[in-house]
Amino acid sequence: MPRPIIEPFRIKVVEPIHVTDGAQRALALEKAHYNLFGLAADEVMIDLLTDSGTGAMSAEQWAAMMRGDESYAGANSFFRLQEVTRALTGMPYIFPTHQGRAAERILCDALALKGQVVLSNGLFDTTRANIEAAGATGIDLAAADALVSRAPFAGDMDLAAFDKALQTHRGRVAMVVMTVTNNTVGGLPVSLRNMEEVAQRCREQKLFLVLDACRFAENAYRVFTDEPAIKKATLEATAQAFFSLADAFTMSAKKDAIVNIGGLLGVRDEALAERIRVELIRTEGFVTYGGLAGRDLDAMAQGLREVLNADYLAYRFAASSYLANGLSEAGWPVVLPAAAHAVYVDAGAALAHLPADHFPGQSLACALYLSGGIRSCEIGDLMFGAANGRRQLVRLALPRRVYTQSHVDYVAAVSRDVAAVKRHLPGLRVVSGPKSLRHFSAQLLPLAPFPRALIAA
Ligand code: F0G
Repeated sequence: MPRPIIEPFRIKVVEPIHVTDGAQRALALEKAHYNLFGLAADEVMIDLLTDSGTGAMSAEQWAAMMRGDESYAGANSFFRLQEVTRALTGMPYIFPTHQGRAAERILCDALALKGQVVLSNGLFDTTRANIEAAGATGIDLAAADALVSRAPFAGDMDLAAFDKALQTHRGRVAMVVMTVTNNTVGGLPVSLRNMEEVAQRCREQKLFLVLDACRFAENAYRVFTDEPAIKKATLEATAQAFFSLADAFTMSAKKDAIVNIGGLLGVRDEALAERIRVELIRTEGFVTYGGLAGRDLDAMAQGLREVLNADYLAYRFAASSYLANGLSEAGWPVVLPAAAHAVYVDAGAALAHLPADHFPGQSLACALYLSGGIRSCEIGDLMFGAANGRRQLVRLALPRRVYTQSHVDYVAAVSRDVAAVKRHLPGLRVVSGPKSLRHFSAQLLPLAPFPRALIAA
């Protein structure tokens, strides 16, 4: 028997989990209008809503925070962050921002996108919203069968579709965005070969190439272990290779920089950097802090130093594969290979008695909560609106360095109890909600009661 891959950390500070029973959860869910964003954290036992900003910082990161320099301009913290980020990305101009989406907005402003199109392997929803707010249209070009192909790098840009789009939109392509890993497409990784092919076309046609790098380390680990044709000497060199092909990057530091808040924007071009400086100062803060405290910059710098550790990344993938395995043994169809940051369940396929407009993903997410206090996230028609053509998924995201194997065993056990009554899970309808980004605040009602067995367990 191979030895288990252990969590490569010990726990020094603990946070209690508030244990609830089924009756309490039924009440809480009703009060939250069957929208899991409406729950208070204390009503949740295992929170798998997102891996964003929910990680546990290391002792070295907390120590780095004490070194934070809170000077308004020219803080030492900034120079430490700049040094680490330049070494990783090779980009000369580095700007901190308060989140990834602020970096996206500022870049979209500075590039003047009005009336143009943006091509991508998969735009995250805030990236798409920022592109649209700047007057451009975002087009996703992942392979149509990406979620079911089980290919090792199914997060890739579909090159045939990309070439066709380059023809169709010739002269109107303002930028190309490669998202690694591809969060909206099952969190699937992107191969370095694919990034090179995309970069080559961008060079030939003088197109601006942006890397959405928030999960750059998890992507680099997959490339390092599973793309032998392109083997680099180290994990770091693999990650650097992605950045070296891009003209700019945006990054939510709340993922692979393992901090609770922060973002980064980096560019190579001096004139573009000047436009960014003006916009950053107008909306976020001076260029050496970008809306963050000095201590946040130091925590980010330290997180970036830690994340490319092979033992840590092996544990990340082991944890998500273990969860994927548990869910699949319980009879839930999952997207494979599992991403490091999350496991995606195909609720549309599992709850075939529910049509897409009865939100099978939301029904499963509510059932996991009722049965075991697990909070997950629907990624389907509730999130994206009707006629989105996407699958009805539920994402169980794994915060970094937070939960242990017994927590994952618990999630698998709850999913087995839910599977036992899956044919009786009811659909839901939206009672009220805004037109845009409705999944955050919509109020829903089930079309029939959830099975009583769910809260009896
Ligand atoms: N790009 C990707 C691929 C993301 O997954 C996210 C955030 C962002 C950009 C925006 O970054 O939140 O710092 O402003 N994803 C989170 C998630 C919210 O749950 O997947 P942000």
